[in-house]
Amino acid sequence: MRKIRIAIVGVGNCASSLIQGIEYYKGKQSGDAVGLMHWEVGGYRPTDIDVVAAFDIDRRKVGRDLSEAIFAPPNCTTTFCDAVLRKNVPVKMGKVLDGFSDHMRGYKEACRFVIADETEATKEEIVRDLEDSRAEILVNYLPVGSEEAVKFYADCALEAGIGFVNNMPVFIASNPAWAERFGAKGIPIIGDDIKAQIGATIVHRVLADLFRKRGVRLERTYQLNTGGNTDFLNMLNRNRLESKSESKTEAVQSVLAKRLDEDDIHIGPSDYVCWQKDNKVCFLRMEGKLFGDVPMHLEMRLSVEDSPNSAGVAIDAIRCCKLALDRGIGGVLYSPSAYFMKHPPLQVPDDEAYQRTEEFIRGARES
Ligand SMILES: NC(=O)c1ccc[n+]([C@@H]2O[C@H](COP(=O)([O-])OP(=O)(O)OC[C@H]3O[C@@H](n4cnc5c(N)ncnc54)[C@H](O)[C@@H]3O)[C@@H](O)[C@H]2O)c1
Repeated sequence: MRKIRIAIVGVGNCASSLIQGIEYYKGKQSGDAVGLMHWEVGGYRPTDIDVVAAFDIDRRKVGRDLSEAIFAPPNCTTTFCDAVLRKNVPVKMGKVLDGFSDHMRGYKEACRFVIADETEATKEEIVRDLEDSRAEILVNYLPVGSEEAVKFYADCALEAGIGFVNNMPVFIASNPAWAERFGAKGIPIIGDDIKAQIGATIVHRVLADLFRKRGVRLERTYQLNTGGNTDFLNMLNRNRLESKSESKTEAVQSVLAKRLDEDDIHIGPSDYVCWQKDNKVCFLRMEGKLFGDVPMHLEMRLSVEDSPNSAGVAIDAIRCCKLALDRGIGGVLYSPSAYFMKHPPLQVPDDEAYQRTEEFIRGARES
């Protein structure tokens, strides 16, 4: 019975879906387990993941058992498993830094973060918590734009000597200086910014690749996204958006036959629509020229529940990180990062990233 002991920073909607999923797949067999890319990754099943520590800064989450905190407001993702057993893991107060954006104060508490009154934790306390809990991997789910906070927690992971899965777009795995720090300590890292199972990014990439393979010249494209969760509310502060836009745009640019002029490509979170909650809607348009320079265009609308869509990938990223720990591999895990993340250090088309990741899991890569 090998287990994977993880710590989570940011007990928001994505963490909720991940933890619900770990519970949901208990008692299932590979044949009736719907919604997974892999039932087993190197012998690890979804339910082999144990969350042993968690950090947040919200009054309604800090101090509560993780099994309750994941359902506390402002979390609003769908509940597909309400029988999450008590974990005996209280959510601990983290360090706020730039995790909270002031523009949120203008919204109802039910829809936004509310900072807890507890004293903020120091780096030494968080490192001690990570060590005491014997966590092996820190999974990062902080809000977009939390540059300082992400670096603070990445430092904690380095100091505690544990792996890091960076699910959001502050660049750590794809920043050579940070990647080097993980490499030097022999600690595996997967990042940055998780690519959902069937989300706007992978669909846009696959369609762009299709245009290229079918000889259609893509001339202009947009991808507009709306949602009503705190991720979208947070991103109303445009000053926090730079790395998210870069991550999403580069994910598409990198698979084009010819990069588009920046005026011809528009990709990003577009608006916050409160009643949408965790439902994300993507409007995608691609304009091109086919045989004889004849124009064509494609319009697509994708509607998905945002957080389970990302958890279905995070559950594999965590297991790949654990495989690296088992095998004594440190530094950036290039193949899993390319397949699971929007902004990996090495961008390759998704088919190739998939093949490389399968090889990694079999032990034939990055060993
Ligand atoms: N849903 C997806 O498909 C998807 C895809 C790619 C990336 N992401 C990214 O993953 C991240 C998490 O998404 P989410 O929907 O769970 O967000 P969320 O807003 O639901 O959760 C963020 C959590 O972080 C907490 N937090 C804020 N500052 C903190 C700090 N300093 N220390 C500890 N906790 C802090 C908040 O209280 C909240 O609980 C976001 O950056 C999002 O952009 C999500």
